Amino acid sequence: MKTFLTPLCLLLLIPAAGISQVTYHSDVAPIIHNACMECHRSGEIGPMPFTNYEEVSAYGPFIEYVTSIGYMPPWTPDADYSHFVGERVLSATEIETISAWVDADMPEGDPADNPGVPDFPEGSQVGEPDLVFSMPQPYAHEGDMTDQYQVFVIPTDFEDDVTVRALEVRPGNGAIAHHAILGLDIEGIAETLDAQDPEPGYESFGDFGFNAYQSFFGGWVPGTQTTVYPEGIGRVIPADSDLLIQMHYGPNPVEETDQTEVNVFLTDGPIDREVTTGIMGPWALGEPFFIPPNQVKTFHGTYDIPVDLSLLSIVPHCHLIGVSWEVFATGPGGQDTIPLISIPAWDFNWQGFFTFPYMTKVPAGYTIHGIASYDNTVSNPFNPNDPPQMIEYGDNTGDEMFFVFFDYVPYEEGDEDISLDTPLLSSVEPMEREKPQIQLQPNPASDRIQLLVDPQFVGGQWAMFDLGGRSVLSGTIQSSNDRILVDALSEGVYLFKGPHGTDRLVIQR
Ligand code: HEC
Repeated sequence: MKTFLTPLCLLLLIPAAGISQVTYHSDVAPIIHNACMECHRSGEIGPMPFTNYEEVSAYGPFIEYVTSIGYMPPWTPDADYSHFVGERVLSATEIETISAWVDADMPEGDPADNPGVPDFPEGSQVGEPDLVFSMPQPYAHEGDMTDQYQVFVIPTDFEDDVTVRALEVRPGNGAIAHHAILGLDIEGIAETLDAQDPEPGYESFGDFGFNAYQSFFGGWVPGTQTTVYPEGIGRVIPADSDLLIQMHYGPNPVEETDQTEVNVFLTDGPIDREVTTGIMGPWALGEPFFIPPNQVKTFHGTYDIPVDLSLLSIVPHCHLIGVSWEVFATGPGGQDTIPLISIPAWDFNWQGFFTFPYMTKVPAGYTIHGIASYDNTVSNPFNPNDPPQMIEYGDNTGDEMFFVFFDYVPYEEGDEDISLDTPLLSSVEPMEREKPQIQLQPNPASDRIQLLVDPQFVGGQWAMFDLGGRSVLSGTIQSSNDRILVDALSEGVYLFKGPHGTDRLVIQR
């Protein structure tokens, strides 16, 4: 009996292995297109393009390595701790797929299976801006393989205060633009600093080189999805203020120029709630902020919440000695913890601006805690000093900072259900809005999705199917901004069919 079993098993296994073989076009290309191509294509910040089989297979083992250690795609927050809009993380299955493909010698497969490269919008992601501010002059970033941090000053010339619902940074040169931080100056200090620097703008490593009226008024890193504030919510740009843009230009072998723009979207009318930026700074620590040489030090700041708030976004900020962050809120007596953000391996080059998928309530009486660790030893590869030196608070490369910026509005009932992942503005011209007249957000989703629906489809039927073709959920489109609970579905890929056509929806937790 035994002697017959082996060849039989082999016969059964061979076709099975043939079917399950991982190929570039059917299995790897979709992952690369979704998670890498946004930066790894011509004119963008990724150092090599990954747009076809030849380009990707040339780096196969390197890609396997950087994805297996979580270095690429760059995403510093711990996705098991809290979620953000535009989260960029590969699932364990995706990492295994890449690895299996490389281990099988990178078979190409059938080009007919390739889903095709996505469309990357050239202009605005959110619509037709009401105003566009541009860096006053182009800036030439030398081709000497060094980083440059330069602040540009743009007079707004607003005669009155102006309320905005979105600020969208449009980098002028994706090949060198590594991040942009926006600020506001109402005192003319930045103009003076600009006049003292012979180059366009002025150099400043930390942020703006002085205590600006608003030091985080939004920002951009590659892949940022612009936040459009929900109805009735906005930010105020005071009359006559200067908009500041701090650009971080990455190292490049040849000279490149940049002239970054900021698209401004005004609110339709007066706002009910103004977005305020809360700041937990070194004053919140209860101890002097310095890090002696050869020490690892952890600082714990607190910020008491006086009235119910809804958080929109959060930005921890430190420089090169900082190695980790954890920010959370606790209720009176320490019970009930609300996790906000954890960055287990802080990387100054990949600092981000993190928007919560839904407005996040922090009740009155709660305390926000910010815990940051700093490693001022030689084992910190980013330590600018060897041997390590005394590190104090300041704006320069060799100084450190401790900041948590969080944007909030006073809480109103129902805020928890307001998605912040809704980039489509009503001012988008139908011509410019390429097809999907029903948008599913977020996607991937975990417990609910929001449908952004062209009015003509309201009242239409929708149904969701698993990949086996079984209908799992169905219903009627109630409004142009409908919500569907998907918490009963298990993780995986589903098809969403509606009057507009079919979309892919990924459930991920
Ligand atoms: C948000 C932009 C961005 C995304 C998304 C991105 N990369 Fe990168 N990648 C970069 C930048 C910038 C560099 C060069 C600087 C660095 O190594 O941090 C880089 C470097 C690399 C390198 C070279 C590493 C080295 O040390 O030289 C590889 C390989 C790579 N990326 C693969 C990937 C893969 C695979 C994906 C998708 C799973 C991906 N990247 C997604 C921006 C990105």
